[in-house]
Amino acid sequence: MMRVVAAVSVEGDALVAWGLPVVSGDDGPMVAVDSDALGADVELPSTLDAEWCERLRFTGKVGSTVVLRTAGAKTDVVLVGVGPTARLVGNAGLESLRRAVAAFVRSASGGERAAFVMPVVEGIGIEVATEAVAEAAILTSYRYDVLRSEDAPAGLGELVVVVPGDLDAAEAGVARGTEIASGVTLARDLVNEPAATLTPERFAEVFVGRLASIPGVDVEVWDLARIRQERLGGLLGVAAGSTNEPRVLRATYEPPASVPSGGRVPHVALVGKGITFDTGGLSLKTAGGMETMKTDMGGAAAVFAALEAAARLGAPMRISAWAMLTENMPSGTATKPGDVLTTRKGKTIEVLNTDAEGRLVLSDGLQLAVEAEPDAIIDLATLTGACIVALGDEIAGVMGTGDALVNEIRRASERAGESLWPLPLPEDYRSHIDSEIADMKNIGKAGQAGTISAALLLKEFVDDVPWAHLDIAGPSRADGDRRYLTRGGTGYGVRTLVQLLTSGEFAASLID
Ligand code: BES
Ligand code: MN
Ligand code: ZN
Repeated sequence: MMRVVAAVSVEGDALVAWGLPVVSGDDGPMVAVDSDALGADVELPSTLDAEWCERLRFTGKVGSTVVLRTAGAKTDVVLVGVGPTARLVGNAGLESLRRAVAAFVRSASGGERAAFVMPVVEGIGIEVATEAVAEAAILTSYRYDVLRSEDAPAGLGELVVVVPGDLDAAEAGVARGTEIASGVTLARDLVNEPAATLTPERFAEVFVGRLASIPGVDVEVWDLARIRQERLGGLLGVAAGSTNEPRVLRATYEPPASVPSGGRVPHVALVGKGITFDTGGLSLKTAGGMETMKTDMGGAAAVFAALEAAARLGAPMRISAWAMLTENMPSGTATKPGDVLTTRKGKTIEVLNTDAEGRLVLSDGLQLAVEAEPDAIIDLATLTGACIVALGDEIAGVMGTGDALVNEIRRASERAGESLWPLPLPEDYRSHIDSEIADMKNIGKAGQAGTISAALLLKEFVDDVPWAHLDIAGPSRADGDRRYLTRGGTGYGVRTLVQLLTSGEFAASLID
């Protein structure tokens, strides 16, 4: 992982580049910081020639860059567009900053060290702003190269975030941003790892290894025998066709006693869909439809990576998490269309399409969460292709039964820079999942509201606990490098969850 450090000045070692933020002002682009005060050993422009910028078509648009290179000099100066000043405000400003840093890191790729000068984001403190910069820098330079036989070209080694003062706050922000980025990196690694090696068993082992030593965290794995004993009929139905056994991974985090709780400690439960490979089962997917289906454990990866980061950051609430881990394979022992599964809760589901398997494993996961009596339940799942049709591959769908909870999640996602948008859960559509012979069926009406009918099935399992469901089928992977995302797994959900889980306001909202 790339290193990020904060500093008030940069001395000594040569840098490959200085990144200077440039806003797109009404009278042309303007350097957004006082470059004379920086004491850099290369010449940093403090004003820009409007005509020159126009000729280069450099307007200061977010994510655009111009490299100034002096023959013989070791250090480039990179003008980095951060957009209009009016948009360098609040959460939108933070996102502009992330995108600008992404562009800078890409332009400085291959160098050992580069420095980025922090612009002011109105309404955002230096700690939160440097957190966003660190996060974006590390995520931009992410690569999954373990399976390449030739050395991949190196990215940027270290980014120095240059702040005008308040180094302590900047260092705290960089530390937090680094922690969050390593959570996202972990989730990306797990999504990118082929299903041949990332089996349910190994997914669980990875987190047992990582979580065991974190103070306040307990972790447990259920094997096939235990899953049978616990009557997880939904999970078992999906796992029936696989040679690789299913697992349930469970972790709990207790906040340190020093965290103020105002009486009782709030408790949030997380559930992740962990299909390590989704062939569709006997309702087999097409070859094309299967190509990316190692991604189908993206929800479980995000939930557990977020739990780890939140625990390391000392989150002020209890967190319980479950990953429902299995493959979805066709075979002589696989569940057949028309079969009826009895879930842990006792409700029965007629499986008419074995490719609608996520809701089956989540039925048991949500029931386990309900049994822990949390104040709120949040599940993340790459659940429906229909959600990609509705919202595209950059926006997750959010649905739920607790309006306050959904609003808290929307706020956290805006701060974190992960887009999501609400869809309704109309009672009237419950009939879409009426079954001829069981309590419900696992598919809705062909071509209609597929994301909603999936969520309505989940709703059958959450009783009256406030619940939110994130359908992350779209944003879990990116089809190319864009902004601070890299092709393949994105780690979507980690940043929103960590934001939420470490928020004192959210903790308070859970118990009032
Ligand atoms: N894992 C898929 C959803 C998915 C599709 C995620 C494409 C990412 C990209 C899920 O298990 C699935 O197959 N859903 C079906 C449901 C249908 C059979 C009712 C779908 O969306 O087609
Ligand atoms: Mn499926
Ligand atoms: Zn699936």
